[in-house]
Amino acid sequence: MKRALLTLTALALLATTAQARSWDDIKKSGTVRIATEGAFPPFNILKGKELTGFEVELAEGLARQLGLKVQWVTQPFDNLLIGLNQDRYDFVIASHGITPERAKAVDFASPHYCTGGAIVAKPGGPMTAAALAGKKVAVQVGTTYLENVQKVSGVGEVKTFPKDTDAQAALMAGRVDAWVGDKFTGLDLVKAQKGKVMQGALLFNERIGMAVKKGNTGLLKELNSALTKSLSDGSYAKLSGKYFGQDVRCR
Ligand code: ARG
Repeated sequence: MKRALLTLTALALLATTAQARSWDDIKKSGTVRIATEGAFPPFNILKGKELTGFEVELAEGLARQLGLKVQWVTQPFDNLLIGLNQDRYDFVIASHGITPERAKAVDFASPHYCTGGAIVAKPGGPMTAAALAGKKVAVQVGTTYLENVQKVSGVGEVKTFPKDTDAQAALMAGRVDAWVGDKFTGLDLVKAQKGKVMQGALLFNERIGMAVKKGNTGLLKELNSALTKSLSDGSYAKLSGKYFGQDVRCR
């Protein structure tokens, strides 16, 4: 918690210094620089040298619509918004929940999907918020899962991991009682582990958005209109169906 707060304060400070590339600069260069983590299946995942996932394909579709080539940058999740405010790339798409705290440091696009944070545990393990009392819970660092698990009254030790997949591995290895993560990621884990773990209660809901540097309104406008178009022309629905078997847009 302390670390997350410090990071966001640092972010707010950085936001006031360097200059982001404007929409005109990006358009002129012909290439947009997009950052993601690459370790958050099925949203963004680096498989060998290939970056793929729902968000990767979605962003590539938006860039195509805007007439731009894409240069991807991968960064640990916890560094993504910091790098954005240091102008190391133009926008971030990495399943960031739109929170008031983050919105102080960056500007969010309209949400590109809606989801929530859910508990996953082994059969017999904690399946509700109340059952987390006194239990050891694994979460990825810098996430809304961490924030929300810490709010659960009586929760035991909350262990943070640099990657979400490491937090899942801790659950599988029996080093924690539960893992809290994205509800769709959780469904995939349950499927992959064939009954070794189960999904429990949803702890909170969230809207997920791409982030641009604070004040980069030109780029934000272009991203939003490209997203609106993909939501209405069927391309979003097709992509969502491919990854989730359902439409994950916010309603
Ligand atoms: N939705 C959660 C949040 O807003 C988790 C995002 C994690 N993203 C990732 N690429 N690991 O914090």
